Amino acid sequence: MSIRVAAFVLLAACAAPGKQLPRTAITDPGELLFNGYAKPDVTCYKCHNGDGTGTKRAPALATRVPKLTDDQLRTVILEGRGKMPAWRKHLTDDEVAQLTVFLRARFGR
Ligand code: HEC
Repeated sequence: MSIRVAAFVLLAACAAPGKQLPRTAITDPGELLFNGYAKPDVTCYKCHNGDGTGTKRAPALATRVPKLTDDQLRTVILEGRGKMPAWRKHLTDDEVAQLTVFLRARFGR
């Protein structure tokens, strides 16, 4: 492999979006939303990875969620933060609650 090809492969891997977990591995409604299975326009996994471990685009949620209250979680989902988009237009109140419950259960306090 030439240096150029190697550099391209490396760059492509770094910019690679997160992967969805397999549909059959998920039963939780919040996790279905997170992984893009409940609504096609809600795609948290693309930046955070299906398991929330993060990508170059977004941090691992286990380092963030424990520091946030439920209210702060809701607010960051609705309004976004930095390069994290706002999801207000894409989610109902129930769906925001499902995501918050899922994030808390998975990534703790
Ligand atoms: C386009 C990429 C992208 C998508 C899609 C995305 N996020 Fe994020 N998210 C980010 C980035 C970047 C940050 C870090 C923001 C910062 O601290 O500046 C972040 C941070 C967070 C945080 C931590 C906030 C904090 O204050 O520490 C939570 C929780 C979160 N995202 C949840 C979600 C959920 C739930 C979804 C889907 C509804 C989602 N994200 C979709 C990019 C994304």
